[in-house]
Amino acid sequence: MAIIEVLRLNHRIARDKRISTHVALTARAFGANKIYYSGERDSTLDTSVNKITEKFGGPFKAEYTENGIKLLKERKDNGFLIVHLTVYGEDFKKYQNKLKNKNMIVVVGGEKVQREFYDIADLNLSVTNQPHSEVSSLAVFLYDVHGYGKFKGAKAKIVGSAKGKILKQI
Ligand SMILES: C[S@@+](CC[C@H](N)C(=O)[O-])C[C@H]1O[C@@H](n2cnc3c(N)ncnc32)[C@H](O)[C@@H]1O
Repeated sequence: MAIIEVLRLNHRIARDKRISTHVALTARAFGANKIYYSGERDSTLDTSVNKITEKFGGPFKAEYTENGIKLLKERKDNGFLIVHLTVYGEDFKKYQNKLKNKNMIVVVGGEKVQREFYDIADLNLSVTNQPHSEVSSLAVFLYDVHGYGKFKGAKAKIVGSAKGKILKQI
């Protein structure tokens, strides 16, 4: 099974708390193994995401990285494909076959993404060329290349139902 990691750039504690958490939960739900985030270190982000993993299963981990470029260089040396999601990129659908079963790190931005991330990426890809968000682009992209995540070691499981809420303790 291919390894999928995500790098969320430029997290700002005051403005991005909810959206960065949603990026992380989206990464987990659609099969990524790990999310790194750069910008401001925010222990509440790691803690809240890692708590969800403890409850609903993994493997998935959130971790801070001080230097996104250094991380991407390391991943490149280990044979990972670097995919940067950006409204300015080429349509991701063009690369659907090339992306299946590849180890990759998917980069999503915040307010502004520095030029060096476009340069280091193997692929700069868009999910439509309309501006939307890091959560929606990541969800659509990961769903396409991976589908739903599969989880082990959960303490609880939500069982989908037509009405109401079913939470089963395991
Ligand atoms: C609020 S947007 C910022 C847009 C920014 N000007 C840029 O460099 O793309 C935050 C992030 O959402 C993602 N994003 C937004 N629209 C996208 C699209 N149509 N396709 C792919 N990614 C998108 C990108 O990862 C972007 O960095």
